[in-house]
Amino acid sequence: MSTAALAPPNSARSLFSSVIVKKAIMAATGAALYLFVTVHLLGNLQVFLGPEAINTYAAKLKSIPEILWGARLGLLTLVGLHILTTIQLMKINSKARPVAYAKKANSASTAASRTMYLSGPTIAAFIVYHLLHLTVGSAHPQFSETDVYSNIVFGFRVWWVSAAYLVAMALLCTHLSHGVQSMFQSLGFNHPKHTPRIKKFAHAVGLIYFAGFASMPLAALSGFLPPFFERL
Ligand code: HEM
Repeated sequence: MSTAALAPPNSARSLFSSVIVKKAIMAATGAALYLFVTVHLLGNLQVFLGPEAINTYAAKLKSIPEILWGARLGLLTLVGLHILTTIQLMKINSKARPVAYAKKANSASTAASRTMYLSGPTIAAFIVYHLLHLTVGSAHPQFSETDVYSNIVFGFRVWWVSAAYLVAMALLCTHLSHGVQSMFQSLGFNHPKHTPRIKKFAHAVGLIYFAGFASMPLAALSGFLPPFFERL
């Protein structure tokens, strides 16, 4: 008999409500991070409009330090909460099932959650590298404080840097896609007709984000994005 079955109804109820609260925090922080990724993607795609467009945009973002640092602090809090809640839910899950299954069911949902546990930490590691590469510049030999356009073009002309970004972007987009699906699942939405549609929609969204992000390293590598001086 499981421990959950022996537990008094009150503690079972409080465990249930704490799981609900945690899932709500996961969904809310995930949705806010999704919004950041969307704004960041649209902002970066201005690289295709040329150096002036993206460099002016970046300068504007940095011109009000209160907003910049407020947004940075907000992002850090969201990422921290998202990770902390994941760890807490993992602990609750493993307590609820102290003995692992002899053979794991290979259902779509377990495959999806296994991918989440792999893609989550990889995205966190990517963000650290990404900050050193394109924000701080210590991982970018030709880094310029003001010329974001050239940072992107020269940064991505290094093939292994672009390859690493492409892998990270693929994992990020898988993570986003599964995130949308599990959000609907957490909300208790399960319908024979609509659930497959949600799945298709989530896959399409993941693919669109991947195409958007991947377009930048691919354009720099192929020479489609010329260095600044070739435009003069
Ligand atoms: C090809 C894809 C990407 C490109 C070209 C790109 C480009 C950039 C650039 C140029 C900056 C520095 C902006 C500046 O200092 O003016 C930046 C900062 C940043 N990027 Fe990205 N990025 C990409 C993908 C991502 C992804 C997928 C994430 C998150 C999962 C992300 C998160 C961030 C964060 C958190 C910052 C720091 C913002 C700040 O506080 O200044 N980036 N990115």
